[in-house]
Amino acid sequence: MNTNIILIGFMGIGKGTTARAFAKEYGIYNIDTDDLIESKENRKVKKIFEESGEAYFRNLEQMTANWIESSVQGTLISSGGGFYKVNNLSKLGKVVLLDASFEWIYNRILTSDNAQKKLKKRPLFKHPKEAKKLYNERSKIYKSIADIVISVEDKSLEKIIKEIAKKTQISVTTL
Ligand code: S3P
Repeated sequence: MNTNIILIGFMGIGKGTTARAFAKEYGIYNIDTDDLIESKENRKVKKIFEESGEAYFRNLEQMTANWIESSVQGTLISSGGGFYKVNNLSKLGKVVLLDASFEWIYNRILTSDNAQKKLKKRPLFKHPKEAKKLYNERSKIYKSIADIVISVEDKSLEKIIKEIAKKTQISVTTL
């Protein structure tokens, strides 16, 4: 049985921020699928979309999932918003969905310090209307494949990571 935790959820919901805070609190390693892909390709996700297209990127996500399945244990993995489509997700670890309304997510991005940078690096968030459509298409699927759903709307980071630890039964004493 794989002992990883894998965070899924829509773009901009705070998977990376949550994963980093969780890893620090519980003294475990955290890796991010977009970071793994960027380091393997030596180019940013935005560039991969522009130069090689979305299908190429999705294939890289599958390759990353295969590597995680064979080589990664005891790690918190944050993933890109479309990573849930890989065909071996359930074999990668406990799947934890971060969930919130589209309006809350969009507002979280717009009110962040580097809002423009955050929007720019996400090709699928270029047009808010299309992003909302994508959100509507995906939200049910996210919920149906998650082992655990954590509602993050208006919750502090501290509360969110405690809830993840409780629901995944990770405690400082078990590490
Ligand atoms: C995507 C989400 C992005 C990134 C890529 C595609 C998606 O990651 O993987 O732009 O399909 O939702 P974040 O969820 O970290 O923004």
